[in-house]
Amino acid sequence: MSDLMRLSLSLESPLWEKLETLVRARGYGNRSEFVRDLIREQLTEEEWKSGAEVIGTITLIYNHHQHGVTEKLVEIQHDCSEHILAATHVHLSHEICAEMIMIRGRGEGIKRLADELRRQKGVLHAGFSAGTTGEKLA
Ligand code: NI
Repeated sequence: MSDLMRLSLSLESPLWEKLETLVRARGYGNRSEFVRDLIREQLTEEEWKSGAEVIGTITLIYNHHQHGVTEKLVEIQHDCSEHILAATHVHLSHEICAEMIMIRGRGEGIKRLADELRRQKGVLHAGFSAGTTGEKLA
């Protein structure tokens, strides 16, 4: 077994309680396993920045009654059309829409696209889920 290093951290009580709830809800045996996975996620994110190919989805929830948001989201996607494989739109209610966008490309470009979509007024949620193939793009 590799050497184990110990880490001590301080959290305000409300954040500590939320951590405990998360650890239990996600079925981790202890806090250390949870924190290890958080660190691994961050390391994966760093790999993406190094130019590896990313494939995944951006899930948007937005209020299409917000003036101009639909046009803006379409415009942003057209500007990045080389990264977008497909998009599915679902009308959730009278005013709320969901859109699942399948993406492929260099990590940093994909992240920029997700961040830009998230920043638009009227966007209530923008989730970004992706994995890396580990292959560097030329
Ligand atoms: Ni809709």
